Amino acid sequence: MSYDHILVETRDRVGLITLNRPKALNALNQALLREVEQALSGFDTDEGIGCVVITGSEKAFAAGADIVEMADKTYPAIYTEDLFAVGDRIARHRLPVIAAVSGFALGGGCELAMMCDIILAADTAKFGQPEIKLGVLPGIGGTQRLARAIGKAKAMELCLTGRMMGAEEAERAGLVARIVPAADLLDDALKTAATIASMSRPVAMLTKEAIDRADETSLAEGVRFERRVFHAVFATEDQKEGMKAFVEKRPASFRNA
Ligand code: HXC
Repeated sequence: MSYDHILVETRDRVGLITLNRPKALNALNQALLREVEQALSGFDTDEGIGCVVITGSEKAFAAGADIVEMADKTYPAIYTEDLFAVGDRIARHRLPVIAAVSGFALGGGCELAMMCDIILAADTAKFGQPEIKLGVLPGIGGTQRLARAIGKAKAMELCLTGRMMGAEEAERAGLVARIVPAADLLDDALKTAATIASMSRPVAMLTKEAIDRADETSLAEGVRFERRVFHAVFATEDQKEGMKAFVEKRPASFRNA
């Protein structure tokens, strides 16, 4: 598969997607988002891949949806094409995905990072939902995922003022898992992804699914779902291997079965 707006490679069991529209600070046009979706689909169905990293450039993870592409669109046109519904498909992938964010993650860029399961931020990262300054509002899940990630008060403030928050504030607020010096960001993200990819692939996917339930259902339903999944993993060879390896004081070697 060849791509025009992203670079796609594999490093052992890790898939790496690099957003690659440097002249437009990786602004997310429709073609780029479709390519991200295709690359993620390819990794999801490749049993040799256990985790994916999405990254951008040093200056920008992505500075938002492509304003030039959107500016003249009409309501009937964007309603009919269901503009940005591709975001729903990106978020639905089952492998764990890490966003390695350096520089600007604004608007759709912040939304793309929030579709991922873990955000690692360079100390240079800047997050924000500045759509209100353009006379619109977030449209790829930003109002919902930001409010869930950092709470209503802070999400309101960011979306209503359009201000950016730095990496430290984002980490304190709970948006970011960890801050890394900018020069180490990709290495750290790949290492974290390799750790995840060394686990049982089906169990990692089930863990992601269970945690995602926390956003979608009541506590009682979520806990019930978790318990059913926990019981079910005892049907896997990987549970037998993981626990046997612990008892035998050796590293586990998962077979993804
Ligand atoms: C298209 C963009 C862009 C974007 C930057 N560029 N962001 N093009 N869409 N979102 C282009 C600029 O036009 C410029 O192109 C080049 O990238 C470099 O940007 P500069 O502005 O010159 O860089 P700088 O001065 O460093 O400022 C960086 C910035 C600024 C603060 C990130 O570019 C900016 O404010 N960008 C827009 C951020 C934004 O509003 N994002 C939300 C988009 S709406 P040229 O050709 O001039 O060199 C959105 C909605 C999602 O995401 C949901 C929709 C419903």
